Amino acid sequence: MVTTKKILITGGAGFIGSNLALKLIELGCEVTVLDNLSPQIHGEEPEQSPLFLSIKDKVKFIHGSVENQQDWVEALKGNEVVVHLAAETGTGQSMYQIKKYSDVNVGGSAIFLDHLANEKHGVKKMIIASSRSIYGEGKYKCTSHGIVYPLARSGKDMASGDFNVKCPHCSNDTELMPTDEDSKIHPSSIYGVTKQVQEQMFMITGKSLSIPTVALRFQNVYGAGQSLSNPYTGILSIFSTRIKNGNDINIFEDGLESRDFVYIDDVVDSIVLAIFNENADYKVFNVGSGYCTDVMTVAHSLKSFYKSESLITISGNYRIGDIRHNYADLTYIKSEIGFEPKVSFAEGLVRFTSWVNEQSIQADLYDKSIAEMKVKGLYK
Ligand SMILES: NC(=O)c1ccc[n+]([C@@H]2O[C@H](COP(=O)([O-])OP(=O)(O)OC[C@H]3O[C@@H](n4cnc5c(N)ncnc54)[C@H](O)[C@@H]3O)[C@@H](O)[C@H]2O)c1
Ligand SMILES: [Zn+2]
Repeated sequence: MVTTKKILITGGAGFIGSNLALKLIELGCEVTVLDNLSPQIHGEEPEQSPLFLSIKDKVKFIHGSVENQQDWVEALKGNEVVVHLAAETGTGQSMYQIKKYSDVNVGGSAIFLDHLANEKHGVKKMIIASSRSIYGEGKYKCTSHGIVYPLARSGKDMASGDFNVKCPHCSNDTELMPTDEDSKIHPSSIYGVTKQVQEQMFMITGKSLSIPTVALRFQNVYGAGQSLSNPYTGILSIFSTRIKNGNDINIFEDGLESRDFVYIDDVVDSIVLAIFNENADYKVFNVGSGYCTDVMTVAHSLKSFYKSESLITISGNYRIGDIRHNYADLTYIKSEIGFEPKVSFAEGLVRFTSWVNEQSIQADLYDKSIAEMKVKGLYK
């Protein structure tokens, strides 16, 4: 069992990392954070970002990048547990910033793992943030072919307004199943590819060096503390910032695409369990709520919470690389380390929207992000 209290969180000034840091400090740990305070997450004055300010005086903060070996050396000093969260995280953006996503997510991991393999170090446990995006379209059932793992949807189908996921054998519509950890790994975005590679690099190196390693495949995390200025990821924050600016919401596809929304506190709990419970060692777990909610329901719920007049339209537009649905099968993580999500989507929305109501309104950069995708031919 890990008893150390000295923990490094990379990306610890971000949404998940800052919440995790505060929880670990509450549990009596000493936390080091390595973070480059990326302006995409922390705004034009990153040193003033609420996320950063929430942890600034409570952790040993190293303003540096996972792409820099010296920053890793400095950050690792004295630490025995590493929670690697720093990453570029936009699915759509990854489709036209391929080198950047690869350099930060894969290259950054490689520098750290190379250090472990070749230098003296005190690391006794590693947690890597993986993602449901590695499953691509996830697990489905076809009435003729049983369990299937469909490929990315065809542009032709989507252009004609058919967004359903098809059986790869007979092209008939399929029925959504919860995705378990043994489901096929076949990401449909560059972001997903980098998360897959990161996960595998950590699991393989952990095993070869006998350093217990745990990969957590997070579903869509939301909650208080989420960046409200980043237009590239986080549908609840994107919709909230649009509504708060009095802008309308354009829902992709037919609005019935769905995601498994898991509240930040539950995600933090899963990471704490992964750190301290040795039953987690060398295993890969889904972390989610175990339920899916469609995007139209999300938009209407937010509109009503904010008592907004914003129009919600369903456009039939779509983004290349997006998946249709996904939700987690949590059987394995429940049985191995007793993880149980505690915050329902209804309760989480109340907490999230109450928090948003207390924040200053952020500039709405969403149209800019869509314009970028249009130019690249990735938004239809
Ligand atoms: N939030 C989700 O829904 C979700 C879902 C699946 C997986 N994940 C994974 O969880 C991790 C954390 O996600 P998050 O939502 O907290 O993201 P976030 O963007 O809020 O936080 C990431 C942090 O990493 C920092 N960072 C970026 N590039 C860096 C670099 N080169 N060097 C050092 N720091 C850098 C950023 O400044 C930011 O503070 C990521 O690895 C992400 O892929 C998140
Ligand atoms: Zn079939």
